[in-house]
Parts: sequence; C-alpha cells; structure tokens
Amino acid sequence: MHLSSILLTSVAIAVDVVLAQCPDYTTYSTTKHEPLSKGMYQLSYQRPIAACRKFNLTEVEATIQDMKTVVKDPDLFRLFENAFPNTLDTTVTWKGFASNNSEEELTFVTTGDIVAMWLRDSANQMRSYKSLLMANESSESLASLFRGVINLQARYILKNPYCNAFQAPTESGLPPESNGYAETDQVTPPFDPDFVFECKYELDSISAFLQLSWDYYDMTLDAAFFGKFQWASAVRTILNMTQGLLVGTYAADGSVNTSPYTFQRESTAATETLANKGIGNPVRAGTGLVRSAFRPSDDATIYQLFIPANMQFSSYLGRCAEIMKTVDADVAQKMSLFSTSVRKGIDTYGKVMHAEFGQIYAYEIDGFGSSNLMDDANVPSLLSAPILDFLNASDETYQNTRKFVLSTWNPYYMHGPVINGTGGPHAGPGRAWPMSIITALLTSDDDSEIVEGLQTLVSSTDGLGLIHESINTFNQSDWTRQWFSWANGLFGEMLLDLKDRKPELLATRFQ
Ligand SMILES: *[C@@H]1O[C@H](CO)[C@@H](O)[C@H](O)[C@H]1NC(C)=O
Ligand SMILES: *[C@@H]1O[C@H](CO)[C@@H](O)[C@H](O)[C@H]1NC(C)=O
Ligand SMILES: *[C@@H]1O[C@H](CO)[C@@H](O)[C@H](O)[C@H]1NC(C)=O
Ligand SMILES: *[C@@H]1O[C@H](CO)[C@@H](O)[C@H](O)[C@H]1NC(C)=O
Ligand SMILES: *[C@@H]1O[C@H](CO)[C@@H](O)[C@H](O)[C@H]1NC(C)=O
Ligand SMILES: *[C@@H]1O[C@H](CO)[C@@H](O)[C@H](O)[C@H]1NC(C)=O
Ligand SMILES: *[C@@H]1O[C@H](CO)[C@@H](O)[C@H](O)[C@H]1NC(C)=O
Repeated sequence: MHLSSILLTSVAIAVDVVLAQCPDYTTYSTTKHEPLSKGMYQLSYQRPIAACRKFNLTEVEATIQDMKTVVKDPDLFRLFENAFPNTLDTTVTWKGFASNNSEEELTFVTTGDIVAMWLRDSANQMRSYKSLLMANESSESLASLFRGVINLQARYILKNPYCNAFQAPTESGLPPESNGYAETDQVTPPFDPDFVFECKYELDSISAFLQLSWDYYDMTLDAAFFGKFQWASAVRTILNMTQGLLVGTYAADGSVNTSPYTFQRESTAATETLANKGIGNPVRAGTGLVRSAFRPSDDATIYQLFIPANMQFSSYLGRCAEIMKTVDADVAQKMSLFSTSVRKGIDTYGKVMHAEFGQIYAYEIDGFGSSNLMDDANVPSLLSAPILDFLNASDETYQNTRKFVLSTWNPYYMHGPVINGTGGPHAGPGRAWPMSIITALLTSDDDSEIVEGLQTLVSSTDGLGLIHESINTFNQSDWTRQWFSWANGLFGEMLLDLKDRKPELLATRFQ
C-alpha cells in the first residue's frame, strides 16, 4: 500500500471512531439503545456515553442517583434519567469568555435539533436545574452556566431586542446556522442573519431573560454579578422597547401609527406571517398591556395583547426590580411601576365571562372587546400562570381557566387513547403536547390527576424514553421533534417538584 493511502485510511478510521463515539444526537435520539428499562414500556437509554456529554455536573449525577431510590417504576425513572440531564448532555454547545472582557462568561445553549439559541428555550433549559443552583464562582459550576446564558442573552437583546433566536457568539468559532424558512422574511427593525437566527418578536422572549435573571438571583443572591456586565443596559433596552409597544394601531387623530415592529414571511401557514402587511391585527391602546406579535410556539398571535406573556413579564419585571435596586434605583422604580400597571391591565381587560366556566382568563385580547379563548401547550400559557409566579394556583379565576383549558371547550385540547392534553396550531389539531401535561402536573394538587398524567407521559414516548414535542393522540409512533431539550428539562423539573411535594406518588408502578 502506498504511504499516502495508508495515511488516508488511518485518517478515515480516526474520523469513523469519533463519529461512532459521538453520534449526531438528531439521529441517535430516533432509535432505541440498550439497556432498555425493566418496566412494561422497556424504554431506551438515551444519554450519550460519558465522553460525548457536553457539560458534567456532579450535583446532577447525584440527583439522578438519588431519584433512583425514590422513583419506583423503572420506566418512569428511565425517562427521568434520560430527560433531566439532556440540556447538559447535548445542548451546552459552547462555553467560554467574551473576547472583549476576559471575565464575562458566555454560554451558548442550543434548543436541540437546531444549532441556535432561543431566549425562551435557553432560559427554561437553565430553569430545570434551578433547584440545584448555589452561589459559586468557579467557571465549571452550574452558577457559571447561568451567568454565561444571562450575559449572552444580554448581548443578543442589546443588539436585536425584537428577535427570538440567535446564532453562536463569534468567540465560539461556530459558523452561523442557515435558516431556510427565514430567507423571504421582511422584518423591521432589520437584523444581521450572521447574528440572528430568527426575528419573531415575542414578549415572552424578553420576559424569559427577566425570569432567568430572577432564577439566578433567587438562588444565589449574587447581586454584584448584575452590576458587572451588560445586564442593566439590556433591561433598559427592554423597558424602552416594551413601553413603545403599549401603542395602539391608531393615533388619537385617526392616523395609523408607525408600528415599532413588522414581520412578513412567504409561507402557506397563516401562523407564519402577520396580517395587514406585517403589523398584525388592530390593537387598541390604553389597556396597559404590552403587544406581542408572536406566541411562545413561534406562531403569530391573532390578537396581540397576549395574556400569558404579559403575566410572565409583569411577574419577573417586578421581581427583577429588587436586583436593579443595587444597580440603578430609578430604573428599579420604573420596573416596579410598570409591573404593577401590566398586572392591572390583565385584571381589568384580560378576564372574560364564559357561559360554562364563569370568569376565566382570555388567551389573547385586542383591547376593542374581542378575545381569543384557548390555550396552547407552550409556556407561558394560561395553564402555567402559577409557575410563572404570577398567581397562586388556588386563585378562583385561575381554577376556572384551568378547567376550561383541560376540557374540550378549549379549541386546542386534544384527546384520544394515547394522550390527552393541549396542543396548538404549531403542530396542528390532533396532536397533544407532553409539555402541557407536565405543566398540568406542576400546577396540580390532585393525586389522581398527577398519577394519570405520569402514566400518560411514561406510556407515550414510542419506547424512545424522551419527551417529544407533540404526539398524535391516536398513534404514539407519530410524534414531532425527537430532540427538544426544553421539554425534557421541564419533565425533570416536574419530577423533582413531585419528590418534594408528593414523594409517595413517585412510588407508583405503571401498567
Ligand atoms: C464529562 O466527563 C467524562 C468522564 O466521565 C469525560 O470523558 C468528558 O470529557 C467530560 N465532558 C466535559 C465536557 O468535560
Ligand atoms: C464585545 O464583543 C461582542 C462580540 O464581538 C459584541 O457583541 C459586544 O457588543 C462587545 N461588547 C462591548 C461592551 O463592546
Ligand atoms: C463550585 O463548583 C465546582 C464545579 O462544579 C465544584 O467543584 C465546587 O465544589 C463548587 N464549590 C462549592 C463551594 O460548592
Ligand atoms: C426609546 O429610545 C429611543 C432612542 O433613544 C427614543 O427615541 C424613544 O423615545 C424611546 N422610547 C420610549 C418609549 O422611551
Ligand atoms: C396559595 O394559597 C394557599 C391558600 O391560601 C396557601 O396555602 C399556599 O401556600 C399558597 N401557595 C403559594 C405558592 O403561595
Ligand atoms: C382521555 O380522556 C378520555 C375521556 O375523555 C378517556 O376515555 C381516555 O382514556 C383518556 N386518554 C388517556 C390517554 O388518558
Ligand atoms: C402511526 O404512525 C407511524 C409513524 O408516522 C406510521 O408509520 C404508522 O403507519 C401509523 N399507524 C397507524 C395505525 O396509522
């Protein structure tokens, strides 16, 4: 054999070995891997081998071992073992420091099957580890992961506050991911596709930044961190932008206001573009609510005064005022006042009478008197209001809303032999999202509802042992998204919450 071909062969083998060791998780997560769990659903093991995991934390491994003694059903434990570490194992795609500040940590956390960072997903992916978070200066720590996500989100928001998903930071050396769907997008304000992956303006994206900031502070009380880098500037940008979004479609003299944001896409899906040449359906000013062009499903809103994101925004803006006090007391006061006025807007305009359920929260309103009564699985949803720390689950309007959402009166409630829960237009009718069941369990005190929900979750993964995006309610083999880290993290968070609240339910065996 010629020397160069020997070299080529060994290079090819080396590449093969690497590929065999660290397979692409998009493919890996579509097939079953031994050892299967020993319950009746025989779920696949889905963690990458240790050498291929993207971030290791001893406290996460210890939590998995600890849960092994609490969760008696082998399939339910397998689902936890796969799902809870999924963000660390597969999506902490790069971690490092800013090129212009060697102390500024940055963490690039991808959503899963797309190499881009969503503000909402990454904040919630981190939240799944909140209960383990403690102050720690080490760059190998969970606290450092949180700080890195906060710093990178601040950078994104400062440059493009209307956008929802972003490219890897230049420091990572990772190439920008191309977004075929966005090629025809016409968006104002404009953006650079090497920096932004997609620019759908969603109030919940910037609220997620506030939620993440609160989660970090709540567990570490590390106020000093927030004064060091771009956090306060990002919050000022958010305040400026959201105050601009209190504007209605029409000015007092009848003229049409210039919309701060417009979006148009060539698409066959109505939910992928905005009506009225990119401004959306008309909105009346004066409710105190902030507009949102898109929902947390990345689908367009029908009415832009989207209540769940206003709940989330009000909740975490108010909480983050406490952090801001140590950095800029004037801004902190503005945040508190704004948080209160949004809450007042929700209380005054966001509730409607339903003939069957009494007073419930609307999903969206336009401020003229029209409302859209539904719920979508994606958080923030109406069902999730208690976990947005906006209200107590015992709230009467919430309880009415909950009954409505989890009934066939909700136009996006799906049921069938495989799974019952809410879905949404993103995956379409006939598909329930496991995320909605997880949210229902996080907000429930009813033991039989919780056990039934766990039974559904453990029995509907198509044997793959991961939380899918949506599932055909009549066919569990017909699911979407094999690699959706947010939903996996939320499942882990829910099981840990049950361990604290109702450990006896985790002793259930499922059939
Ligand atoms: C995680 O730990 C394993 C050994 O248990 C190691 O092989 C791997 O490189 C570690 N991953 C990272 C990102 O440090
Ligand atoms: C630091 O560099 C990054 C990447 O080039 C840039 O986005 C950011 O604005 C810079 N920050 C400052 C404070 O200059
Ligand atoms: C901080 O985090 C590092 C890395 O995870 C860990 O080794 C260390 O024990 C932690 N320190 C404290 C005080 O918890
Ligand atoms: C936001 O900032 C811009 C530029 O500084 C300013 O022109 C605008 O009036 C501000 N908007 C609000 C609502 O404060
Ligand atoms: C919700 O309200 C109930 C009854 O007032 C109370 O027992 C419970 O502690 C509250 N929960 C939270 C999270 O505040
Ligand atoms: C869904 O609800 C229906 C009743 O509406 C029930 O017959 C069915 O068993 C439920 N499916 C699951 C998966 O729990
Ligand atoms: C269930 O879905 C799978 C995957 O889409 C499909 O191959 C199968 O034919 C479906 N089964 C039925 C009974 O429709």
